[in-house]
Amino acid sequence: MCGIVGYLGHRNVVEVLISGLSRLEYRGYDSAGISVMQNDEIVSVKAQGRLKNLEAKVEGRHLDAHLGIGHTRWATHGAPSDVNSHPHNSNDGKISVVHNGIIENYMELKEMLQEKGYTFLSDTDTEVIPNLLHLNYEGDLLEAVMKTVKQLKGSYALGVICTEEPQKIVATRKDSPLVVGLGEGEYFIASDVPAILNYTREIIYLNDGEFAVLEGPALQLFSAEGLSVERPTTTITWNAESAEKGGYAHFTLKEIYEQPKALRDTMTSRIVPGQPIKLDDIHITREMLLHYSRIYIVACGTAYNAGLIGKVAMENLSRIPVEVDVASEFRYRNPLIDNRTLVITISQSGETADTLAVLRDAQTKGARVIAITNVVGSSISREADDVFYTWAGPEIGVASTKAYLTMLVALYAIGIHFAELLDTKTAEELDAIKKELLTLPEKVAEILAHVEKVKDFAQRIHGEKDVFFLGRGLDYQIAVEASLKLKELSYIHSEAYAGGELKHGSIALIEDGISVIAPITQRDLTEKMQSNIKEVVSRGAKVMAVTYAENEDVAKYADEVIYIPSTLDLIAPILAVVPLQLLAYYVALYKGLDVDKPRNLAKSVTVE
Ligand code: F6R
Repeated sequence: MCGIVGYLGHRNVVEVLISGLSRLEYRGYDSAGISVMQNDEIVSVKAQGRLKNLEAKVEGRHLDAHLGIGHTRWATHGAPSDVNSHPHNSNDGKISVVHNGIIENYMELKEMLQEKGYTFLSDTDTEVIPNLLHLNYEGDLLEAVMKTVKQLKGSYALGVICTEEPQKIVATRKDSPLVVGLGEGEYFIASDVPAILNYTREIIYLNDGEFAVLEGPALQLFSAEGLSVERPTTTITWNAESAEKGGYAHFTLKEIYEQPKALRDTMTSRIVPGQPIKLDDIHITREMLLHYSRIYIVACGTAYNAGLIGKVAMENLSRIPVEVDVASEFRYRNPLIDNRTLVITISQSGETADTLAVLRDAQTKGARVIAITNVVGSSISREADDVFYTWAGPEIGVASTKAYLTMLVALYAIGIHFAELLDTKTAEELDAIKKELLTLPEKVAEILAHVEKVKDFAQRIHGEKDVFFLGRGLDYQIAVEASLKLKELSYIHSEAYAGGELKHGSIALIEDGISVIAPITQRDLTEKMQSNIKEVVSRGAKVMAVTYAENEDVAKYADEVIYIPSTLDLIAPILAVVPLQLLAYYVALYKGLDVDKPRNLAKSVTVE
């Protein structure tokens, strides 16, 4: 999730681009860069790190230009570095491009271009675009962009400039956001409104597949078919702070609502029915898998909770024994690690001290380490032998939401990959899971569209001191994560119990009026969970259940039932957790708490 900005008008473009990028840093901040048109030549300046590094580099250049494009990067392909920073230019330096999105077929395009003599400096997917544009350019930049995007698979928002047409910016988008801003004799493009709010409040939202041509100063819009489009502007009435949050009250809520996109991005190009799972940065062979005696999944907090589900998924799919452990415990318990051990570390930030220590220790003892992380270039991603990047985009809310969902997808994808290598499931069985995984973005969106009951329940329980979560099988693992989310966001004490353990002690805590929350997504365990619900209801508990659409029975026992769309039991946790994240959010909101920054917590725990 990078941020792009572009400007054409009477102001000094450098100031506008830097100001815009500073407002987009929440979309990513591992590097930044600009290309400006100075005396009909493209001048590009790029710098790894925060925007101030770019500002320092630009300062000495005395740039005086009025047209240009800029980018702040959140790496997906290629580690953060000056050379991987955008803009990327064609080999002859005549075309410059900023891109937000993921080009799935960039390897094919790169090979085709290399055969034609183009060379590549970076490891990014984006660098194919300026060279492809160069190949397709026949005197009209818009036509070249139209031809080029037909060859791209994946998602993109693009800003393009070209020395042959030095008064022009061409922009387009597909599955990545892009707005056009209109000022007095000046035009802007940006990934998001806050980038240009200092200059204008008149915005045009570009639709998927459309093109905008900003030229000297005039604006034309075209449909995907190249027909002229007329669209009125929208006047933005929000302030910059709420614009950064896309109109949501908190980053946490925004990130919960970004989950369909985060899931789609993470699955894109990797999970395709009828084809083997494609994991570019995991180089594990069938022989290696046959050699491993066990897998350890090791992580902290929510990432550990994702591992709990990963264990069940991976054992089911690949039939390899999997153990899950909390990194801070694992590293001090003298675990059995040798060269027959495969370790999977999970970390959103890629910097968590205990998880990093486990990775290093495991490698020293001969184990191979796969990292699942959201941050390209993070310590854990650099030091691991294999990496799966979750493409959730930057997560700003301290409580992990969208990163958790994408970690689950990563674990399922690795599990399916291992099953393919080991032939533990038939191609038909695996295809059914892949197809179902690909329906999840839509199903999550459906859950997010109906939140009234969750809000009502949050209203009812926000004054409580204790809340219990109850689940069996994968629903127990979901209960553990839902309980953590509730306690960290709302400061209500909560525990998750396995349904079958109730009678072994914890039922003593159930008394009149206590709230119990029960995810029930595992069909073969539904009856047993409903018995557990009856047991707590008969002792005075009020119960909210989260269950699949056909389970009508549960409404007879529970006070409130949240229905989620049906899916395979194995992957149902990805859906069941969503209303429970929202519940935690709304409880915290009704208590008037700082949802994005719960007390005593930090986003990245880099000390023990
Ligand atoms: C909870 C949460 C934390 C993190 C944990 C690990 O919502 O966000 O529990 O999951 O601190 O962080 P990473 O994934 O960065 O290693």
